[in-house]
Amino acid sequence: MVKLTHKNVQYVDFYGDHILSYSFDISCNDTRVGDIRLRIGNTEGIYYSGHIGFAVDEAHRGKGYAVQACRLLTPIARHHGMTKLIISNDDGNLASYRVCEKLGAKLVCKAELPDWHDAYKQGHRYKNIFEWDLMENGNQQSYAK
Ligand SMILES: CC(C)(COP(=O)(O)OP(=O)(O)OC[C@H]1O[C@@H](n2cnc3c(N)ncnc32)[C@H](O)[C@@H]1OP(=O)(O)O)[C@@H](O)C(=O)NCCC(=O)NCCS
Repeated sequence: MVKLTHKNVQYVDFYGDHILSYSFDISCNDTRVGDIRLRIGNTEGIYYSGHIGFAVDEAHRGKGYAVQACRLLTPIARHHGMTKLIISNDDGNLASYRVCEKLGAKLVCKAELPDWHDAYKQGHRYKNIFEWDLMENGNQQSYAK
């Protein structure tokens, strides 16, 4: 069973904006398998980086943990009045792309990265921007589940 364990929630400076960021460990049967973040708000930095950022440790990949972890975040997003979440991935990140597809997120565009973004500085030039509609059927997980 996949669970999220709260690490911290804090206001952070995110590309010049003060945003609220939640951070969790992802675990399965009490083994930590990765981590996930939820950023609240709609800023330019969030547009390119996404509301959600996730990473699953190499040894635990391919078991659908990222998808399950994203679903577990939705009650918090809803609590903040968010009905759509952006998830972005670097050009060529097939695994992250597949996570978005499996969530039912829609590819909105391939956005050209601005030069101030960290991914640009790492050599990337485009981000796939996916939009995940939390109001669609199947995405309405509540705290009670
Ligand atoms: C992207 C990532 C979080 C996906 O996590 P995950 O829990 O392994 O996701 P899934 O199990 O749903 O697998 C997604 C895809 O990864 C690929 N994959 C499957 N097994 C894999 C493995 N053992 N190792 C690497 N990739 C694998 C497949 O393309 C899979 O798609 P499929 O289900 O159609 O076969 C993980 O690959 C990761 O941490 N990557 C590095 C960090 C990163 O890119 N984060 C995303 C930034 S937005």
